Amino acid sequence: MNIDWQNLGFGYMKTDYRFVSNFKDGKWDEGKMTTDDKVVINESAGVLQYAQTCFEGMKAYRTIDNRVVCFRPDLNASRMADSCRRLEMPVFPENRFIEAVKQVVEKNIDYVPPYGSGASLYLRPYMFGSNPVLGVKPATEFEFRIFASPVGPYFKGGAKPIILRVPDFDRAAPLGTGHVKAGLNYAMSLHAIVDAHNQGYNENMYLDSATRTKIEETGGANIIFVTKDNKVVTPKSPTILPSITRRSLMVVAEKYLGLKTEEREIHIEELKDFKECALCGTAAVLSPVGKVADHGKVIEFPSGMEKPGEITQKLYDTLTGIQMGKIEPPEGWIYEIKPSAVSV
Ligand code: PLP
Ligand code: COI
Repeated sequence: MNIDWQNLGFGYMKTDYRFVSNFKDGKWDEGKMTTDDKVVINESAGVLQYAQTCFEGMKAYRTIDNRVVCFRPDLNASRMADSCRRLEMPVFPENRFIEAVKQVVEKNIDYVPPYGSGASLYLRPYMFGSNPVLGVKPATEFEFRIFASPVGPYFKGGAKPIILRVPDFDRAAPLGTGHVKAGLNYAMSLHAIVDAHNQGYNENMYLDSATRTKIEETGGANIIFVTKDNKVVTPKSPTILPSITRRSLMVVAEKYLGLKTEEREIHIEELKDFKECALCGTAAVLSPVGKVADHGKVIEFPSGMEKPGEITQKLYDTLTGIQMGKIEPPEGWIYEIKPSAVSV
């Protein structure tokens, strides 16, 4: 495989196989692996007109002893089921989701980057309304696919701290779709991210849209903070995506590092009291934040702009150590990819 693993960015690369299954007449077909990367749908397909689509993001890793593993795919399966229910889409059965993920990794095994390269194989399960609709209503036919793409760090520079800004845009409405992985959440964040980049910031730190006083998350990652007495704190809100990385990090902090953790509302005024901040997600892993700009006021965390804070580094090392097979995982976190006879 002629890939420069060390210098991969976070982008799409076509790999050999993808999984596809179609829902019609009230049921999913048996699904298949295909080499065809093209999707052909009607011009009035539900996804094209009313954005009826949701997705997931997960990774396969090569471990220190050269096994290939996935990290907690069961949680992606159940979160995708939640997204589907909220968007009036049929759930792709969770056990079949996990089997399909394993098959996609297995069939693209040569694209799983080598241990130590800093890259991984990103997996993108997604579903969309595929038959024509014109009145505003759910589609009745859907396609579920999973493709794979080798990726490097989401933020250029990897462990170099990034800068966020508090935008004058909202990400999610109370009782809206912020807690599920709907494509529409990302469509509405595109203008805000382009604007942030134009102004010299890496990402937006969204506030709750009801009061604009509480910290929520960024466009593609949850946020964690470290207090001056080493507590790991993360926002609690019904309008943020329940990040699997964040939920895992809270366990790592408590069980592996012996730190106290807290999931609670975090007021924007508290920013100045934290000593470290980082973004967490499948793509972001744990990306340190050096500064946050809030309408002319700049808060620089004591950890600074040169390197990750001490606790952030420990969390990162432990989480990635678990993913790469260097540290004993909690039960059920690691799914090994084995050639399987099970058809999905
Ligand atoms: N928040 C948003 C808006 C995201 O898009 C993602 C990415 O999946 C996350 C958080 C992180 O979630 P996870 O750790 O499950 O990848
Ligand atoms: C992920 O982390 O998997 C996501 O879906 C985030 C996206 C912005 C790349």
